[in-house]
Amino acid sequence: MLILGIESSCDETAAALLEDGQTILSSVVASQIAVHVPFGGVVPELASREHVDNICLVVDACFREASSKGRPITWTDLDAIAATRGPGLIGALMVGLTYAKSAAFALRLPFLAVNHLQGHIASVFLEHPKAELPALSLVVSGGHTSVYHLRAPSKPEELARTRDDAAGEALDKLAKFLGIGYPGGPVIERLARLGDPKAIRFPLPKFTDESRDFSFSGIKSSAVRHAQTHGIQPRSPADVDQPETLPKDLLDLLASYQSSIIDQLLRGIERGLEEREIASIHISGGVSCNNELRRRATEHFATKGLPVYFPRPSLTTDNAAMIAAAAYLRAKAGERDPWDISADPNLRVL
Ligand code: KG4
Ligand code: ZN
Repeated sequence: MLILGIESSCDETAAALLEDGQTILSSVVASQIAVHVPFGGVVPELASREHVDNICLVVDACFREASSKGRPITWTDLDAIAATRGPGLIGALMVGLTYAKSAAFALRLPFLAVNHLQGHIASVFLEHPKAELPALSLVVSGGHTSVYHLRAPSKPEELARTRDDAAGEALDKLAKFLGIGYPGGPVIERLARLGDPKAIRFPLPKFTDESRDFSFSGIKSSAVRHAQTHGIQPRSPADVDQPETLPKDLLDLLASYQSSIIDQLLRGIERGLEEREIASIHISGGVSCNNELRRRATEHFATKGLPVYFPRPSLTTDNAAMIAAAAYLRAKAGERDPWDISADPNLRVL
C-alpha cells in the first residue's frame, strides 16, 4: 500500500511516500525557519503563505526523489492520501489538508486526516517496528509535551500534558530572550555542552492537586530573572558561532536550564511507570533530537531494564513520513475520512 503523506501544521511544508507503512520511498521537508528567524518565532500568517507557495514544489520533489531510487512513481500508483488535520496553526493546517483532500477527491482515492501527535507517536515505530508494547510515549516538541500510554500504536491514552508552555517552546523563548537564535533547542544544546548543568538549581514544578502534568513556564521565568539579576546580556545569533566569546555565566545558565527541563521530562515518564505496566519507553518530537535527553533517558531507564526508543533525527522534527505512517494504521483497516472533514487547530488525542 503506497500512501502520500502531507504535513503543514506549523513551519515545515512536508511530503512523503511511504510503502506498506514501513518503507520511506521519499521524505521532503521545506523548512520556513529562515522566514521566521527575524521574528524569533513562527508568524502564523507568514507560515500559511509559505505553505501555499511551497506545497506543489514539495510534492513534486517527493515523487522525483522516490522515482530516482527505483521504479518511476506517479499519482496513479497511490493507494491513499493523508494529511495532518491538527493540532497546529489553522491557516497552515488548511493548506495541506485542502491540497491533500482535493488530490484524493480528483483521483478517487481514500483520504485520511491525521492527528499530528499520532504522527509523532508513529515515528518511533517507523524506526523500531518491534518496539515492545505496552509503552509510555513522550511527545516533546515546540507545541506539545505529553505522555501517552500505548497498548497499540494507534491507541494512545494521554496520562499527562503540559499546563502551559511545551518544553521546546520554553527552550525557544529563553533563546529568543537571550538573542541567541531560533529555533532555540538546537542552539541551547550546542552551547550547553560548554556550561555546567549543576551551576543553577531550578526547582521542579509542584501542583497543589497532586497532578502529574508538566509545566515549563515557571522555569522559563526563573531563567529570565536569573539572566536579569546576574547581568547576563542578550547576544546576537552570530556570537553562537564563536562560543569561546560567550561568558561562562551564560553557558552555565543554558546548561542548567536544559538539564532541568530534561529532569522534568524524565520525572514525567517516571510517574507514568508508577501507574501502568510498561515494556518500553518511546520519545518523539523535535526535542527528542537532543543528544543529552537521549543519553540521560537511555541511561536512566536502563537501570529499570526498560529500552528507550527514539526516531532517527530527521524524523524527530515535523515531517510527512510520520503522518503517512499514522495513516497507514487506519488505511490498512479500510478506514477513510469523509470529504467534509476540516482542520482542527486544537485537536486532542482521544
Ligand atoms: O516537532 P517539531 O518540529 O514541531 C512541533 O510539533 O512543535 O519541534 C520543534 C521544536 C522546537 O521547539 C525546537 O527548539 C525543538 O523542537 N528542537 C530541539 C532540538 N531540535 C529541535 N530541542 C532540543 N534539542 C534539539 N536538538
Ligand atoms: Zn510536531
